[in-house]
Amino acid sequence: MQNKMPVKVLEFLFDALTDKSPRRRTIGRTKGAIELSQAILAKGWAYISQLEDLLLETDHRTSRIDIEALATYFELPLRSVFQKPRFVTASAMAFRSLSVMDAAALLVYLEDIGFDTNPMLLIEGLLPTLASASHVTGSEWTVLAYQRLRQKTQTTIRADAIDKDGEWASNKLKDTTGRRLEFTRVGAQPYQLQVRGPKHRKPRHEFVTCEYCGHEYTKGDPEAALTHRAEHARVRRCLDPTPVKQFKDRLLTAKEPELVIDSSPIWMHRQMYERAFRFKREMQFDFTQWEGSARHKNAYPESQAYLFADHTAAYGPGAIVGACAFWKDEARWRLRWVWVCPNMRRAGVLTRRWAQFLARYGDFELDLPLSPAMGTFIAKHGSDRQKNFIKDFKAEA
Ligand SMILES: CC(C)(COP(=O)(O)OP(=O)(O)OC[C@H]1O[C@@H](n2cnc3c(N)ncnc32)[C@H](O)[C@@H]1OP(=O)(O)O)[C@@H](O)C(=O)NCCC(=O)NCCS
Ligand SMILES: [Zn+2]
Repeated sequence: MQNKMPVKVLEFLFDALTDKSPRRRTIGRTKGAIELSQAILAKGWAYISQLEDLLLETDHRTSRIDIEALATYFELPLRSVFQKPRFVTASAMAFRSLSVMDAAALLVYLEDIGFDTNPMLLIEGLLPTLASASHVTGSEWTVLAYQRLRQKTQTTIRADAIDKDGEWASNKLKDTTGRRLEFTRVGAQPYQLQVRGPKHRKPRHEFVTCEYCGHEYTKGDPEAALTHRAEHARVRRCLDPTPVKQFKDRLLTAKEPELVIDSSPIWMHRQMYERAFRFKREMQFDFTQWEGSARHKNAYPESQAYLFADHTAAYGPGAIVGACAFWKDEARWRLRWVWVCPNMRRAGVLTRRWAQFLARYGDFELDLPLSPAMGTFIAKHGSDRQKNFIKDFKAEA
């Protein structure tokens, strides 16, 4: 509800609901309450004065309650109601009233925020009239749902004004029924009342993990769904790549089309970054081993990297099926990481480049730890030195 409560009325609610004087233990089936409810049901209307009396029967703290202001806040229409005169031309006195349905809803809302009311006295009489309804007003809905939702709701009421320079202070209490009330003041003014029924359960956020992209999000949250959709698409561009036009052109024109260094275009650096990130995720490493970002190039002269073009028809020319990054320490080159998209593994993507890497970077080092797949790869395609290196590594492990 977007409505705001007049500060004065909220002040009354704060005062009344923090009143600690003892209340009746059993709420509401007093003779007075029953008679008043029957009279209201019989008329179909509840005069404001009758409602005040009815509330006082069940909760003495309502003595200064401003029913008209509360009805307005809860969007319950007040009407002028007349006792039908015997002669239609005669004059009659008007009573400010709520329809019995709206009166019952008001009792429910007041109970929700912490007053002892007994809406059931009215609701019992109203339910049969709703049994065959095909459409319902808000109040009728409240009446229908009362028994299901009782004590389970949470209500937040805000003031129509705020002291902009005031300090925020909250005060909590649990009442005898088990409701949890929180009173927030800003400066000297009341600002917010929040009441949770004793059986209110915070909606349980069900966490789900997308099996494809690994993104964790809360089900049923539209905001989270949007974030997931963006992340999912981003991951898909790495896992199931589609041809990149610029890459396709580059493969036809550039001398070393797959090489990514400082002078390479930014889109290549961006594609590197995405794959460095996927590698990190898959291997569950803490750091992305790439000095660039989505917006900045990796400009280090020590860095040389490669985007792998699809050499098969699986994703087509221009699709990027993997990447790897080398780094030069002192005089020696080292392969920091290599990542091939899952569907293209064991298809010779790395094998067909290995000899060229050995030729260009010499008998380069390998960053540890090696994955089992990479260990097997080196055992088959590595240089003698690399093979010995992984034998030592395996012996140590
Ligand atoms: C490791 C990886 C880079 C290998 O690239 P690839 O293009 O799939 O390798 P190739 O197809 O050229 O494989 C050549 C040989 O290496 C060995 N090999 C590669 N992956 C293997 C695996 N998962 N299990 C067993 N042997 C494997 C095989 O002997 C293979 O030859 P075969 O398919 O004829 O049996 C790739 O699997 C990958 O990206 N894995 C996830 C990331 C990773 O582990 N990176 C290395 C971290 S150190
Ligand atoms: Zn996903």
